Amino acid sequence: MTTSGPRACFILFFLHVVIFLSLLFYNSFLTHRALQSHPNSAHGDIRILVWHWPFGRSYSLDGNKCLKMYNISRCLLTDDRADFSAADVVVFHHYELSRGLSSVPLHLNRPTSQHWVWMSLEPPVNNVNLTQLNGLFNWTMSYRRDADISIPYGKTMLGGDNLSFPAAPNRSCFASWVVSKYKPHQTRAAFYQRLKKHVPIEVYGRWNKKPLPDKKLLPTISNCLFYLSFENSEKKDYISEKLWRNAFQAGAVPVVLGPNKATYEAMTPPHSFIHVADFNSPADLATYLKVLSVDRQAYEKYLEWHNTYRIKTYSDWRERLCQICVKYPSLPARKVYYNLDSWVNS
Ligand SMILES: *[C@@H]1O[C@H](CO)[C@@H](O)[C@H](O)[C@H]1NC(C)=O
Ligand SMILES: *[C@@H]1O[C@H](CO)[C@@H](O)[C@H](O)[C@H]1NC(C)=O
Ligand SMILES: *[C@@H]1O[C@H](CO)[C@@H](O)[C@H](O)[C@H]1NC(C)=O
Ligand SMILES: *[C@@H]1O[C@H](CO)[C@@H](O)[C@H](O)[C@H]1NC(C)=O
Ligand SMILES: *[C@@H]1O[C@H](CO)[C@@H](O)[C@H](O)[C@H]1NC(C)=O
Repeated sequence: MTTSGPRACFILFFLHVVIFLSLLFYNSFLTHRALQSHPNSAHGDIRILVWHWPFGRSYSLDGNKCLKMYNISRCLLTDDRADFSAADVVVFHHYELSRGLSSVPLHLNRPTSQHWVWMSLEPPVNNVNLTQLNGLFNWTMSYRRDADISIPYGKTMLGGDNLSFPAAPNRSCFASWVVSKYKPHQTRAAFYQRLKKHVPIEVYGRWNKKPLPDKKLLPTISNCLFYLSFENSEKKDYISEKLWRNAFQAGAVPVVLGPNKATYEAMTPPHSFIHVADFNSPADLATYLKVLSVDRQAYEKYLEWHNTYRIKTYSDWRERLCQICVKYPSLPARKVYYNLDSWVNS
């Protein structure tokens, strides 16, 4: 560019633009081809289209995420709606549909072998405006064990977890509870009000104007003997991160209020929780907790499972979506939720 001046400069610039654009087109051509190269999914990849991201937060899908991040092969995720007709599965997160922030593409020609998935990790009370969706979906995806694709907030796995937390006598807090949306009419609120008359409970979270930053959450709870894993909704199988993360990962013994005891027993490690329904009153529960707090052996029995089991939690929507491929071969080929409304509320 030393002698020929502005003209050469312009040509060079032009060349750069051309190269850049070619790369761009080639790249999108490759992505598109990847999605369309297996017309018969029975022998190829499973193509999953996320119609919209839950709560407006998108994740990168560049590269083969299911394989690279979770070692799940033949599973392609896309959020490009142009891939609709090539998708084997289209996933719709309920929140946006219910609020009119997104809608199902009834105007598009839906391939006969394509399955639509209704996805929500919310308890029934938060799944509003369901009747308009009756007869549209083939599969459900929720924390419930009877969903077609069941993605609970946590799972009990074999193999010790190697977590370390303060020994019982070193813990300076008896019990804690983190709550952001306290509503006096909730069962858990009434229970807390009666329980706190008998044992000290440290309360954190937005309700109490003592929010805990992520980094402080587990260390704070670890310092307590007990944690109140009280669900805001006592519905079938609804066990949230209040148990899986807050209590189990912190090594506090959870006092649980939520679905019935049989549900907890089926999903959690043995001898890992104290269910409020086992006691006639909050006062009786308090008596039991006080006994445990001074009987180190009996207390530590509730932590023994950490040697044999560990808890798996999901924090990334991509991991949940990749699970569709794991379940895919065993999902019912022909199914329609004519009454999604009553399924959700059952
Ligand atoms: C990935 O999955 C395959 C089976 O699908 C398995 O053989 C392999 O050991 C796994 N790799 C890792 C790193 O887990
Ligand atoms: C349910 O849908 C109606 C319209 O279809 C809308 O007016 C209403 O706001 C929706 N409910 C919620 C909680 O968004
Ligand atoms: C568990 O902890 C021990 C010692 O702290 C360590 O040697 C071992 O690698 C850990 N195991 C796992 C699975 O993290
Ligand atoms: C308990 O506290 C004592 C005294 O501060 C300390 O030496 C010990 O390492 C602690 N043990 C555990 C398991 O935290
Ligand atoms: C999926 O649901 C739609 C809508 O009800 C239905 O027309 C279609 O036959 C179903 N597909 C399969 C494979 O069951």
